[in-house]
Amino acid sequence: PRTAHRDADGVLTVGGIPVTELAADFGTPVFLLDEADFRARCRDFLESFGDADVYYAGKAFLCKAVVRILKEEGLLLDVCSGGELAVALAAGMPGERIALHGNNKSTAELTRAVNAGVGRIVLDSFQEIDRLTAIARERGVRPAVMIRVTVGVEAHTHEYIATAHEDQKFGFSLGGGAAREAIDRILAEDVLDLRGLHSHIGSQIFETDAFELAAHRVLGLQAEIRDRYHVEMPELDLGGGFGIAYTTQDHPRPAAELADALRRIVKVDCDSYGLAVPRLSVEPGRAIVGPAMFTLYQVGTVKDVDGIRTYVSVDGGMSDNIRTALYDASYSATLAGRISPAAPILARVVGKHCESGDIIVKDEFLPADVQPGDLLAVPGTGAYCRSLASNYNHIPRPPVVAVCDGEARVIVRRETEDDLLALDVG
Ligand code: LLP
Repeated sequence: PRTAHRDADGVLTVGGIPVTELAADFGTPVFLLDEADFRARCRDFLESFGDADVYYAGKAFLCKAVVRILKEEGLLLDVCSGGELAVALAAGMPGERIALHGNNKSTAELTRAVNAGVGRIVLDSFQEIDRLTAIARERGVRPAVMIRVTVGVEAHTHEYIATAHEDQKFGFSLGGGAAREAIDRILAEDVLDLRGLHSHIGSQIFETDAFELAAHRVLGLQAEIRDRYHVEMPELDLGGGFGIAYTTQDHPRPAAELADALRRIVKVDCDSYGLAVPRLSVEPGRAIVGPAMFTLYQVGTVKDVDGIRTYVSVDGGMSDNIRTALYDASYSATLAGRISPAAPILARVVGKHCESGDIIVKDEFLPADVQPGDLLAVPGTGAYCRSLASNYNHIPRPPVVAVCDGEARVIVRRETEDDLLALDVG
């Protein structure tokens, strides 16, 4: 994160506070949120995208403090479950600034969303159209909806986080005709206020060519609808998925460049189809919170395994960062509490779980004198680490501490063994 630097003693400092102090005050492992960096990324997206709407994707990381920051900075919020909606509302996000997503929204979730006056509901299935139509009729309201279209684009990313190829669970397929039928049904009923089409092609994407193809296909559908019904839907959501740098091999595009590219892509298509340019929206999660956080661990044991490599075990693991195990994700690690003149050795940073796949950083060069008690920082863990955290092996989940201008505050407290036992009512 941008406020992180080494102080004169070589100690990593963030938000004006040395990590040695943060570790002493809050324990390890701990997620440290550089609040100034997080806010700067929010502003960067808002300013770059100009009159487009920027929804922060709450699944990346959500808590009440984050919702308040988003509200202050003027972002909108994408939630994908009743739980995320509850956090948003508890922190005072106005309903109209929230969009509800999900491939299996229950009647209860839809009812709650309608009651909260949620700004957009992104429809994902025929059953959901029926459910929402029934709720809207009963209450005499006309919720604003978008249709999630699966455009058949293969994004260059891990299979589990690509979402626009045909054979997966999200959205209405364009190729198979489900998207057209969904639009037919919604327009025929006229109980739902259809605002536009939605496309999300996947996550951790660097190139804009997949967005270009997605926009082209979705706007092609928009033109068909115009020809058939003489209506032009006023909005278009191109989803999130903008990649971040986990290692030096990754080269993300700045938000301004992305915004320019997406605007240009949409304009070219609209011109060629003779469409008015719809109001654009995007839903970045990872690109806003990912780089703004890092995890601080303490080294427990160091083991040289037959001269092949050194296993450095830390006090967390796959329960606070499953991404390496699940997506073969790459991270880096750095000695945080001191600098060392020792020669680098090939190390693997692993956790304390009972699995050999419990790896946080597969290959990293760490100083040869890395030892128990050392602090290790793993950057880029803001997105999909705390939010995907588990209690595997009954390890309590780490806290999130926001640091800014020399002050630190706990925004999600550390789970305790008592918290875990409290659920165990047998
Ligand atoms: N909009 C929709 C409809 C989404 O499904 C997602 C992510 C986003 C926006 C935000 O994508 P982002 O900008 O954060 O890439 N757990 C995986 C990522 C799953 C993404 C799910 N949907 C990971 O750790 O890589």
